[in-house]
Amino acid sequence: MPKLNEHYQDLKESYLFTEIAHRVAAYTAANPDKKVIRLGIGDVTLPLGNLAIEGLHEGVDAMASAETFKGYGPEQGYDFLREAISAYYARNGVSVDASDIFISDGAKSDTGNISELFDRDNVILIPDPVYPVYVDSNVMSGKQITYLAGNAGNGFLPLPDPSVHADIIYLCSPNNPTGAVYNREQLTAWVNYALANEAVILFDSAYEAFITEPDLPRSIYAIEGAKQCAIEFCSLSKTAGFTGTRCGYTIVPKELVFTASNGAELSLHNMWNRRQCTKFNGTSYIVQKGAAAVFTEEGMKQCHENIRYYQENARIIADTLAKKGIRFYGGVNSPYIWFECPNQMESWEFFDYLLNHAQVVGTPGAGFGENGKNFFRLTSFGNHENTIEAMQRFEKLF
Ligand code: MLT
Repeated sequence: MPKLNEHYQDLKESYLFTEIAHRVAAYTAANPDKKVIRLGIGDVTLPLGNLAIEGLHEGVDAMASAETFKGYGPEQGYDFLREAISAYYARNGVSVDASDIFISDGAKSDTGNISELFDRDNVILIPDPVYPVYVDSNVMSGKQITYLAGNAGNGFLPLPDPSVHADIIYLCSPNNPTGAVYNREQLTAWVNYALANEAVILFDSAYEAFITEPDLPRSIYAIEGAKQCAIEFCSLSKTAGFTGTRCGYTIVPKELVFTASNGAELSLHNMWNRRQCTKFNGTSYIVQKGAAAVFTEEGMKQCHENIRYYQENARIIADTLAKKGIRFYGGVNSPYIWFECPNQMESWEFFDYLLNHAQVVGTPGAGFGENGKNFFRLTSFGNHENTIEAMQRFEKLF
């Protein structure tokens, strides 16, 4: 009989968004005549920009003739895309070496897989509330987690405690689920703390394109010293509408070198490269052609047209909450709005209440951690008409 990885028993029965999908499916089956509006999972609704589509078509056409056909590609991604991403960072004032960029099928896989590079014997700091993949992927391998409380008192932006040592720190900014964004001073505090503790920051910047305030850092590498202590994950899912198309990237600077217990110098860049070459065959050429078009100046302009559409939805949601006197966070530099459940309800209770009484689906804060249990998240990724209708139904309830 195989000995199983029993740490799976320590996980909640299903992944947050799977649990929500089950509950909504059960509701819809029982109430087929009701129109359910989904503002739960952060899944985009607008189609890809036409430059991305043209790039994808070029990729498909290349597969049709022997001269341009592509078989296995480089596991790290094609240079044309790595260079396009590096140029995009440069336009935002951040220098990133193209050879430090690893193309993947999205930030979810990479933020989950990265934990393989680290031993179980580490102090791992994970904010609470936060994107559940960081927690679940560490629980799966039996790692102990120390939670960093995010709450109304710290604006959901916990800062380092210099008296507590950590080896690995997960940060997500703009934050999923709270929409809070670290400013330069706060991120500098994290980078200095990581350097002082010889720790690694795993920085998820999947929502950087939603930052509207120009002074807010969109990459951890905007902070001096970050290349010595941080890995950055990003994704085209929300920036360019690639939730179904799948493409993301992870930056592992060559400066990230740590001493192993036998005294050898180990490079995280080389380790991640070794991991990817063994377990990953690269993102498809076709998708990388579409992605490269996204990172051109014109391609990014098209992405920002879509982002502005979602920002308008965020404004509609925020206005409704403000009108009702409900305290909320996010929505300005983020596609998510995070608010306190009305009438002191707990978040799953509120989830059921909203689904049953208004047929609106959101995400219960408890799914992002203990500190979310009285909060709720709505996404601005729906279409305008549905967002307006959802908020009209919401207004009538409270
Ligand atoms: C979310 O709703 O939190 C995200 O869509 C999940 C994800 O990006 O995997």
